[in-house]
Amino acid sequence: MKSSKVDALNVKKLMPSPPTNSCLPAIFASCALALAVAAFSPFAMTQQATQTVSSSIPHQARHASNAQLASPAIEARVERLLRQMTLEEKIGQLVQYNDTGDSPAAQADDAKPAADNGAVIVAVNPVTANHLDSMQLAATGRLGSMLNTIGAERTNTYQHLAVDKSRLHIPLLFGADVIHGYRTVYPIPLGLAASFDPELVVSLAHTAAEEATTAGVRWFYSPMVDISRDPRWGRTAEGAGEDAYLGAAMARAYIRGYQGDDLSQPGRVAASVKHYAAYGAAEAGREYNTTDMSEIRLRQVYLPPYKAAVEAGAATMMSAFNALNGVPASANPFLLDKILRGEWGFDGFVVSDYTAVMELMNHGIALDPASATCKAITAGVDVDMMSHFYDTQLPELVRTGKVPMSVVDEAVRRVLRVKFATGLFEHPYAEGTEVTSAVDAHRPLVRKGAEESFVLLKNSNLDDGTPVLPLSPERKRIALIGPLADDAGEMVGAWGGAGRNPDIVTVRQALSERAQKTGGTLLYAKGTEIQDYSQSGFDEAVKAAQDSDVAVLALGESNEMSGEAGSRAYLDLPGNQEQLLEAVAATGKPVVLLVFSGRPLVLDWAAKHLAAIMEVWFPGTEAGNAVADVLYGDVAPSGKLPMSFPRAVGQEPLYYDQFSTGRPPIGIDLSKPPGDDSRFFSRYIDVPNDALFPFGFGLSYSNFAYSDVEVSKSSIPLPQALANRSTALVEATATLTNTGNRTATEVVQCYVRNLGASVEQPVRSLKGFARVTLAPGESKKVSFPLGFNELSFINVENLPTMEATHYTVWIGGSSLADKQAAFEVSELKQSADSH
Ligand code: BGC
Repeated sequence: MKSSKVDALNVKKLMPSPPTNSCLPAIFASCALALAVAAFSPFAMTQQATQTVSSSIPHQARHASNAQLASPAIEARVERLLRQMTLEEKIGQLVQYNDTGDSPAAQADDAKPAADNGAVIVAVNPVTANHLDSMQLAATGRLGSMLNTIGAERTNTYQHLAVDKSRLHIPLLFGADVIHGYRTVYPIPLGLAASFDPELVVSLAHTAAEEATTAGVRWFYSPMVDISRDPRWGRTAEGAGEDAYLGAAMARAYIRGYQGDDLSQPGRVAASVKHYAAYGAAEAGREYNTTDMSEIRLRQVYLPPYKAAVEAGAATMMSAFNALNGVPASANPFLLDKILRGEWGFDGFVVSDYTAVMELMNHGIALDPASATCKAITAGVDVDMMSHFYDTQLPELVRTGKVPMSVVDEAVRRVLRVKFATGLFEHPYAEGTEVTSAVDAHRPLVRKGAEESFVLLKNSNLDDGTPVLPLSPERKRIALIGPLADDAGEMVGAWGGAGRNPDIVTVRQALSERAQKTGGTLLYAKGTEIQDYSQSGFDEAVKAAQDSDVAVLALGESNEMSGEAGSRAYLDLPGNQEQLLEAVAATGKPVVLLVFSGRPLVLDWAAKHLAAIMEVWFPGTEAGNAVADVLYGDVAPSGKLPMSFPRAVGQEPLYYDQFSTGRPPIGIDLSKPPGDDSRFFSRYIDVPNDALFPFGFGLSYSNFAYSDVEVSKSSIPLPQALANRSTALVEATATLTNTGNRTATEVVQCYVRNLGASVEQPVRSLKGFARVTLAPGESKKVSFPLGFNELSFINVENLPTMEATHYTVWIGGSSLADKQAAFEVSELKQSADSH
């Protein structure tokens, strides 16, 4: 981790400049523009129809997404407090500032506007150029939450101002980007998704919450549940990959891990699910870019993880930067009001992404700060993160009636509900002893998380007939080569929390420890930098390989190459790492490639020429130990890919649950350029269609066989399917056998295709998975209940439904599973027959 990040989480000191036309008094024009935009949107009817939902439906009347937030006791407290609040105090709850770290605690007692006392300006309002001091705002009830305030001393200082000095003593909520660990950092979310182990994610997420609450952080901007089907988008690192079903399972797990059953308990934090919605579909994988898709695709592929998070009780959501079908997500009543609150009954509050309210002007749907504010808050964005628009614009908008007081009141209620539910009023300060370094008690779990995240992509046999991995004790001389072999700071990925470099175990450290214990020799050579073209280190690396029995190369991306603003147009190993790899492989020694990356990379050459490849993502604090455990076979790899690895970047977006098209290239050899009889198909002329390593794929040190793939019914009457939305309609089963010679874990996957529906359905979609550990020779029957949720699709009315259609079910070890069974849903009303 870079030293500047050690005690700061993604602290942003730069703020994009607002557009300059802020003086146009165009509130009417902008609200009219809002209606005009809505009228041209494909969702225009729903947008207009739902404009009033949030203020017209009484809170208690709605279905509660989180019973704690909907509790009558909290509601009574909210109403009592709301009645006492001035307009300024209400607006204060909707304001969030980024702590730039420049406001010294010493200012706390006589906090004056920074411009007056000559101190560093900590919160500059770009619109009015009011030089605000966030401590003074806290002390006067004009601040609701803070972003990136790090450390118990600092959060407590702010909190004392809010609680002791402000008129109504309303505590602040401290939020931070704790995405995969606070001090003890676990693998990036894409890596954790490869574990297909939601229970593990629950436990890991809880460790982060336990650690961060000791510093006063009670709100995580996590999980990111955006489906990403295009690895050019750097934020693929932060999510669970390309699949809606896996994404939903991971979303639920993070919420449970952060929030538990009771938000007010010690060690619990409120989650902020982001980035709502469809941010992962940014065109061409370019960060902050627009998204455009049918409502069917939105509901079938992109919304399920957000919905799952809401159903799991997520306390807050973050509205995204992107426009969806022309309407920016941070001013989108269709997303925020109709779906989130109307359909899903979301009880929490929505915070905008960073300056997203201001960016409505850049999008071109707001002419000035007043209209941006009007559009955001009336659409359902409750808290303004860092635009400084709500505090400057809302007073006048409310006084002139352009934003009804009821809209502000409702936003404030939502914020206060979360503050009451988290127990902030009772326990406003940092809890327990502050955690300032990685927690030893959390290391074993974090190590397990890393081990489960690794995906073994290739493992060939050597001349002696044994696979190169696990490393044999006979091969005593290991050459460890590459820029990621011994760089602690690069082990944590783009959002490494507040992890500290000295706490991180590198691969070099762990492998030298092993070598010492086993009497082996570790030869280390860096070879090159992550992004460099000098070959000055190549000779040393080649020499180390020549002197070894096996070469382990630690190559890949730097932390900064993925995550926010980390879009790439090339997906190769950066710099001259590929040349280094080829030079080392030319020695003829067996090569094991460890790939560190925040996304799928193009590993075409490596796949053809190397003995072994293992994707290790960014493993976190226990990186080296976890790598050593798996390389030496203490643990067998069990991870499966949560995203397809392409052969070439031009295949992107590439995902397994694609549509067949009218011209599928079935039975055609796509590795050859097309001839006359093989050209007019949905194909490329220069690369096969399929992934180099497909979704769900991953090898083990053992082998597994699948047999007896069956379904419990051959036919289900449609009326029964439509009437029963909560229990299984059919059960799919298979027998898994460990045919290898060691105990290992397999991720069993169940895929479904629906043929004959009124809307084209994917060639297959994941509808169940299970991690199963078996001893050699052991077998187990694995079953997957399939109900309406798994079998339905979104029809042209944008509603989930089933029709009288045919289903194929595959159960196997990847999205290429080939053992299948079939059943149909029939119009007939007689009861289903069994096999
Ligand atoms: C990112 C969010 C993050 C927020 C606060 C934004 O730029 O898109 O994911 O939570 O900043 O740091």
